[in-house]
Amino acid sequence: MSGGSGGFRCNRKLTLAMSGGFIILVIALTVGLCVGLSGSNDVTENEETTSFSIDHQANTFLLNGKPFRYVAGSFHYFRALPEAWRNRLRTMRAAGLNALDTYVEWSLHNPHDGEYNWEGIADLVKFLEIAQEEDFYIVLRPGPYICAERDNGGLPHWLFTKYPDIKVRTNDPRYIAEVSKWYAELMPRLKHLLIGNGGKIIMVQVENEYAAYYACDHDYLNWLRDETDKYVENKALLFTVDIPNERMHCGKIDNVFATTDFGIDRIHEIDQIWKYLRSVQPTGPLVNSEFYPGWLTHWQEMNQRRDPQEVASALKTILSYNASVNLYMFFGGTNFGFTAGANYDLDGSIGYTADITSYDYDAVMDEAGGVTKKYELVKQVIGEVLELPNIVLNPAKRLAYGKVELTPTTELLSAEGRAALAKGAPVKSTKPKSFEEMDQYSGLLLYETPLPSLDLDPTLLQVEDLRDRAHVFVDQQLVGTLSREARIYALPLSKGWGSTLQLLVENQGRINYDRANDTKGIFGKVTLQLHNGGALPLEDWTTTAYPLEAITIENWRQKLPENAALDSSIAKQRLLRSGPILYTGSFQVSEVGDTYLNPAGWGKGVAYVNGFNLGRYWPLGGPQITLYVPNELLKVGSNSLVLIEYQRCNKTTNGPELPAVQFDAVAQLDGESSEAQK
Ligand SMILES: *[C@@H]1O[C@H](CO)[C@@H](O)[C@H](O)[C@H]1NC(C)=O
Ligand SMILES: *[C@@H]1O[C@H](CO)[C@@H](O)[C@H](O)[C@H]1NC(C)=O
Ligand SMILES: *[C@@H]1O[C@H](CO)[C@@H](O)[C@H](O)[C@H]1NC(C)=O
Repeated sequence: MSGGSGGFRCNRKLTLAMSGGFIILVIALTVGLCVGLSGSNDVTENEETTSFSIDHQANTFLLNGKPFRYVAGSFHYFRALPEAWRNRLRTMRAAGLNALDTYVEWSLHNPHDGEYNWEGIADLVKFLEIAQEEDFYIVLRPGPYICAERDNGGLPHWLFTKYPDIKVRTNDPRYIAEVSKWYAELMPRLKHLLIGNGGKIIMVQVENEYAAYYACDHDYLNWLRDETDKYVENKALLFTVDIPNERMHCGKIDNVFATTDFGIDRIHEIDQIWKYLRSVQPTGPLVNSEFYPGWLTHWQEMNQRRDPQEVASALKTILSYNASVNLYMFFGGTNFGFTAGANYDLDGSIGYTADITSYDYDAVMDEAGGVTKKYELVKQVIGEVLELPNIVLNPAKRLAYGKVELTPTTELLSAEGRAALAKGAPVKSTKPKSFEEMDQYSGLLLYETPLPSLDLDPTLLQVEDLRDRAHVFVDQQLVGTLSREARIYALPLSKGWGSTLQLLVENQGRINYDRANDTKGIFGKVTLQLHNGGALPLEDWTTTAYPLEAITIENWRQKLPENAALDSSIAKQRLLRSGPILYTGSFQVSEVGDTYLNPAGWGKGVAYVNGFNLGRYWPLGGPQITLYVPNELLKVGSNSLVLIEYQRCNKTTNGPELPAVQFDAVAQLDGESSEAQK
């Protein structure tokens, strides 16, 4: 079994030996601690309504007084279009799952300070109501930090606009105040969905894998428990999830039910894992809140696959302990737009790595919501403990729409590109402005400064603390690329290249695990090497914002003249030496189906279909090649496609033919042939 990629994850594996002190701790806790909600463990005292509680003698949940266990699946509403929610949920239910597990993403609902979003993909209440209709109990995980391989672990970027040095996930009064404001918006909407109020939410999580966080701040945890219960009012069970190890006590909260999480890589030590859990909570049902049937994937690594048979047999093992379990992810979906997060390897051996756009996760269902071999095997195992409902599935067709030619229409860094796509006026400052200072979630920032006459030829340009990737231009001619992933922060500049230095910085996704303070831009010095061995700091910057939001791109596209096209000399080049180019095209659809955009031969960029941001593509990095295009985005007739390509188009000759992409009927997530990478 090859458990993890051996690195970072929302569940960072710590292999610590059990010590003698551990056993004493178990005894102390067994004597001293009764876990559950304050007062009775019943979440409601009202005979009329459904009750959900814990039996600490029989070590089981009780639903209406009867022993109950759940086999849940994770599906995050923000990773599928709302039109697809019911279909995905029904497919999950058909596998026998009796509960749905979802995170709530703060940054989605509260994209800017004081601005809230509850529509479309952010219509959380509708999602939960559909889940209820589809016969699920609900395990709700509002965080507010959620990890989830999402940008900043779900925390809004503007927290750092407002308070640059905020200590998130601690008792910092600024963080507490903002969480409290957020919960006042979120929680009242969910009240009718709590089981004690006649809904189906049986459990509500407090924080997320907090024991893995450096702070170990119980004042904060206790506050968050009380703040959550202020709204839940004992009408559902509060719980925590922590990685099984000797640090679990840092995540344990008095009077909150503790659960753990682990995948197939640790199934051989399951007895030890339950001991860890028992060390913080001596009685009650055993719960694995995140059993991983697959795994997350970063750019420039192997696609993470997990063997279906091993997954099924590990699930069987977990269930044999009478445990409740949640499969994370049962359906993964997609990190549309710029929502994918990143990881940072604390050992320093790998450093920063961004998550791919797909969240297929090699989950039980695939990215398009289809059933897999793993689905059939898992369903069989679930069928041994829960009744399988008789549901007929109605999967969407997957169609190949073939080749679509793309016309280069605008250069991002040209005067027209700036006029149409830059947001607000450029900002002048001594230091480059960060994404957060510009109140910008993602996309690109362009930093420009006059170049002094160089002391040396060539001279070394050094950019300290770059987050995350910079295309470097002198007078709008590409001279190289710097990268946090590759840890390349310097490149030589020659005399006479020009007078303006331009750094086009890409935010590749904020770190989502362990820390959630990965602000973006350039935070260190930018210097030129001097003859005397010193370094000349560059301190006269103009920052131009390119958030590349779908709405901006769509407005720009609609205003394009009919036959808009760049000068043929620019259009002929394969490498984009003068910066990103926006390409437009359209394709005819006679029957709507799911499809996959295949940008083989292109470099790195973002793709939009009918004004919807599909996400980042990067076939040069891999292993994800295709982007999932949900059928719900397409219409019969003409459909639009925009590519913002940062590096190169897929032409092989400099002839008159246009570069192209293809729409395929199958996903390609496991890399492309090395030939195509040349
Ligand atoms: C599981 O529950 C059943 C029924 O309550 C019980 O007989 C059995 O001993 C339990 N098994 C374990 C491993 O706890
Ligand atoms: C970010 O958080 C980490 C702890 O997770 C801390 O070590 C680091 O100093 C923080 N960085 C900033 C800039 O606050
Ligand atoms: C460019 O894309 C088209 C359409 O998918 C494909 O036929 C062609 O082979 C690609 N070119 C390269 C160099 O990959």
